[in-house]
Amino acid sequence: EKGGYDYFMLKEIAEQPRAVADTLLGRIGAGGRLSLDEMRIPDAALRDIDKVVIVACGTAYHAGLIAKYAIEHWAGLPCEVELAHEFRYRDPILSRSTLVIAISQSGETMDTLMAVRHAREQRARVLGICNVNGSTLPRECDGVLYTHAGPEIAVASTKAFLTQLVAVYLIALYLGQVRGTKWGDEVTDMVHLLAEMPDKVDKVLETMEPVRALARSLADQHCVLFLGRHVGFPVAMEGALKLKELAYMHAEGFAAGELKHGPIALIEQDLPVVVVVPPRAREVLHDKIVSNIQEIRARGARTIVIAEEGDDSVLPYADTLISVPAVPTLLQPLVTTVPLQVFACELATAKGHDVDQPRNLAKSVTVE
Ligand code: F6R
Repeated sequence: EKGGYDYFMLKEIAEQPRAVADTLLGRIGAGGRLSLDEMRIPDAALRDIDKVVIVACGTAYHAGLIAKYAIEHWAGLPCEVELAHEFRYRDPILSRSTLVIAISQSGETMDTLMAVRHAREQRARVLGICNVNGSTLPRECDGVLYTHAGPEIAVASTKAFLTQLVAVYLIALYLGQVRGTKWGDEVTDMVHLLAEMPDKVDKVLETMEPVRALARSLADQHCVLFLGRHVGFPVAMEGALKLKELAYMHAEGFAAGELKHGPIALIEQDLPVVVVVPPRAREVLHDKIVSNIQEIRARGARTIVIAEEGDDSVLPYADTLISVPAVPTLLQPLVTTVPLQVFACELATAKGHDVDQPRNLAKSVTVE
């Protein structure tokens, strides 16, 4: 049942190209037009939306944070992202023209379900992104987009996360298509590029041996920091979460721009710091993060740099360089997250932990 792997987590990491392809299946039509009919929210209603609010917990929340960049850009809509358990105890301002998107692999996370009920009481339209057919979430939403990742057994979410990203990209691009934003041409181009992502994820998986070796060499560390900018920021948070839950290590993801506002004080000799570098095409973002890498290295940090292939500018400052295929900035989380999953899984295994069943955690959190 583990398909020859020692752990379900390893199998699920390896399944990601197929999972991403399955989430795209049947949703891209001729000329790059998207059809998401199963979502059951009419296009007319989507044209009336004036705000998007995303609710989720844990890894699904990180998918939501990335969705914000995509929805603002391609759909031209304001977008807020909320931890479901925080959202439901506030007084969020919602209306009939608010689209609430609830993201949950299991569809059973109580906090997320309660947030959905809270949103519906205020007449918001609610769209679920869910992996488990027949779970509670789809029944409580106006519409649902299934991620088709297949069963995820390991407690730590991997393939479900990548497919949640695909689902939010599809929604952001679809909203752009239906509403006709200034990025109309980009929307069609992006759909074609999205279709290439299973191959790109596959390429990443082929080059993971050095990442495993690095992880094993760091098994005695007590803390790892993760830095990113733009969509690389939630990726950094996701990398840190994986390491916490699997390796029981202190790990934290920061926005690289925050460094000088405090976190740089944490940098000390030999502290491993993972940095997610945006594509070179995003010159300003890219160059800022390269100077962050210089700054932390000058203070003794051991830099582990994830950058697109061919990006030589980081070479002088990277103690370890992990290259990923070049893809558009907004899609980059699909390739930059994978090395972080492998890193956490291997480091935890080196410490002798069961990565499928981390201590104190359950696969779905059905209590508040
Ligand atoms: C982390 C992880 C959890 C879940 C969170 C939400 O690897 O698996 O953080 O992402 O508990 O679960 P779902 O998506 O089922 O609502």
